[in-house]
Amino acid sequence: MKVLILNGSPHSNGNTSFIVNKLKESFPSDTIFVEINAFKENIKPCVECRYCWENEGCCIKDKMEVINSDDYDVLVIASPLYMSFLTPPLFSIITRLNYIWCNKHFLKISNNLKKKKGILILAGGGTGTPVYAINTAKLAFNYLNADFDEEKDYIYSLHTDKLLAKDDKEVLKQIDRTIEGLQLKDNFTLK
Ligand SMILES: Cc1cc2nc3c(=O)[nH]c(=O)nc-3n(C[C@H](O)[C@H](O)[C@H](O)COP(=O)(O)O)c2cc1C
Repeated sequence: MKVLILNGSPHSNGNTSFIVNKLKESFPSDTIFVEINAFKENIKPCVECRYCWENEGCCIKDKMEVINSDDYDVLVIASPLYMSFLTPPLFSIITRLNYIWCNKHFLKISNNLKKKKGILILAGGGTGTPVYAINTAKLAFNYLNADFDEEKDYIYSLHTDKLLAKDDKEVLKQIDRTIEGLQLKDNFTLK
C-alpha cells in the first residue's frame, strides 16, 4: 500500500508533522510513504494559462507529477490553519488540480483516476473556523477520486496555543478511528 502525504506545515517538528508521524506509525510496517512538503517544494500555483482548455493535462512540469501519477492508495492532506485556510503553498498545489476539471469540462476527457482513500489532518491554534480548509480539502479529494468521510477521516488538534498536538489525547483516538475505518485486508491493502 502506498500513502501520499501533502504536508502544508513549514515545521518539521510542529503540530501537523507530529500528527502526520503518529498516523504513519499506525499503518502496517510495509506501507510505502511519499511525502511532499509544500513549503520545501514550492510548487507554483495555477495561473490559468488555459493550456488544459485545449490539451490533456497541465503544461507545467514539476513535482505535481508525483500527485498526478495516481499510484497511491491513500492521500493525506495535512496543514496548519492559516487565517482559517490551508497554508498558501499547499493551496497552490491544490489550484494545480484545476486541469482535471478543465479537461473534463472543455475537452470531455475523464482522467479515470483510481479510487483511493482521503485523510485530512488540521492543526490550529487561534480563533476562527476550520470549515474553509475542510471544504478546500474536500474539493481536492473529489478531483483526485479520494473517498473522504469527515466523520471518520478527519484528524485535528485545533487548540495548539493551549495544548500542543503531542499532548492532545484526542489525536491518538482519532487516528485509531481513522485507521480502523480504512478496513485493511489481511495483506494490508485496502478492502
Ligand atoms: C499566519 C498564521 C495564521 C494563522 N491562522 C490561524 C487560524 O486562522 N486559525 C487557527 O486556529 N490557527 C491559526 N494559526 C495558528 C497555527 O495554525 C497553529 O500554530 C498550528 O498549530 C501550527 O501548526 P504547525 O506547528 O504544524 O506549523 C495561524 C498561524 C499563522 C503563522
